[in-house]
Amino acid sequence: MSTQQPLVIGLFGFGVVGEGLYKVLQQTPSLQARIKKVCIKNPDKKRAAPDSLFTTRKEDILDDPEINVVVEVINESEAAFEIVTVALQRKKSVVSASKKMIAEHLEALLLLQQQTGTSMLYESAACASIPVIRNLEEYYDNDLLHSIRAIVNGSTNFILTKMFEDRLDFSDALLLAQQLGFAETDPKLDVEGWDALHKWIILLNHAYGIVETAENILFSGIQNIQLSDAVIAKEKNYDIKLIAQARKLANGKVAAFVLPQFVQTADPLAFVKNEYNGVVIESGFADKQFFYGKGAGSFPTASAVLSDISALRYQYRYEYKKKYYHPPHELTDDNYIKVYLSFNDWKQIPREKFEWIEEWHANSDRKYLVGVIHQHHLKSGNWWKEDAISLIVMPDPIIDNLDIIQLKKKSLELAGIQ
Ligand code: HSE
Repeated sequence: MSTQQPLVIGLFGFGVVGEGLYKVLQQTPSLQARIKKVCIKNPDKKRAAPDSLFTTRKEDILDDPEINVVVEVINESEAAFEIVTVALQRKKSVVSASKKMIAEHLEALLLLQQQTGTSMLYESAACASIPVIRNLEEYYDNDLLHSIRAIVNGSTNFILTKMFEDRLDFSDALLLAQQLGFAETDPKLDVEGWDALHKWIILLNHAYGIVETAENILFSGIQNIQLSDAVIAKEKNYDIKLIAQARKLANGKVAAFVLPQFVQTADPLAFVKNEYNGVVIESGFADKQFFYGKGAGSFPTASAVLSDISALRYQYRYEYKKKYYHPPHELTDDNYIKVYLSFNDWKQIPREKFEWIEEWHANSDRKYLVGVIHQHHLKSGNWWKEDAISLIVMPDPIIDNLDIIQLKKKSLELAGIQ
């Protein structure tokens, strides 16, 4: 697309994000972008825009040569992938908010962008209003990115905040997240950690050049967290957050997962409440940086879509520098994690899998332990995802193989076992 060309948009989807974008575009005439057609599934639904704008035929957008930008904000990931594929093949630039679709088809989408030389931007797909993708892509273009930790799902953060600070129960908190337009149509995607995982797959690529699929990444959501965990967290002066984390190990490989985590009050992520998201990046020389902003909702998401549309004015495209210009990093499960586990019965816990257990409480109905386990034991088994077991990783949980012997010795000495 040349810089002189006006941006003529074909929009797929008019839900929370699509309608938000329509309104936001009306308030930003300086962008000189207009929506020519909106493709929707249900023509009978009342919409806050003129009828003439809508169609149910995707060809009305994909076959229209005047439309040079396809904005895709629909729910169904396979349909979204088809639309994006055709649009790129027809040299229409794409802006997408479909994190599930992008995560599930990352490899194919990278190839399509290379083959067609056409830009596909998706800043809104991870952390909505926080420009984290472009920052990872452009600013951290070096080998010095040590770690990245983030709250990437607004709904679960909202639910945890409402449950533990406002004493709402889980179902009321979820209902509120749905009413406010934060939750996915299928809220299991949020609650069971899928949405956070999809976003983490996207960010791992821009941070480290890693292209991985969901089955290769350790994750869980907040579905098993109990009120008793919140009581323990309070005693220890921690908050509970769903955190996506990646850290470069001494051997250059990257340990990554999405799991509930205890966070200390001094951790910037403890400050992230409700539907807000936050990202803490640790890099050589710069030390720590913290990004914060709304991670869900109509206008915050639309603002990132708008920014992508605007970037198309100057032919911006992701170069995937970490993947194509640097030796890409490799994901590994060959490291240890310090975890808290709460459960009803010791029989549920394979104690032999732990390197060491440094704290255990067995007296009350709900028992818990704090111990160190190889990540592979969590990745390869589902015993810790059983209904009555709740796993929460401890602050600063990743232990490099190089450090394990020394840490074990120290921990056993402290426990008086040596
Ligand atoms: N359901 C998502 C969330 C919406 O709660 O973060 C924004 O991607």
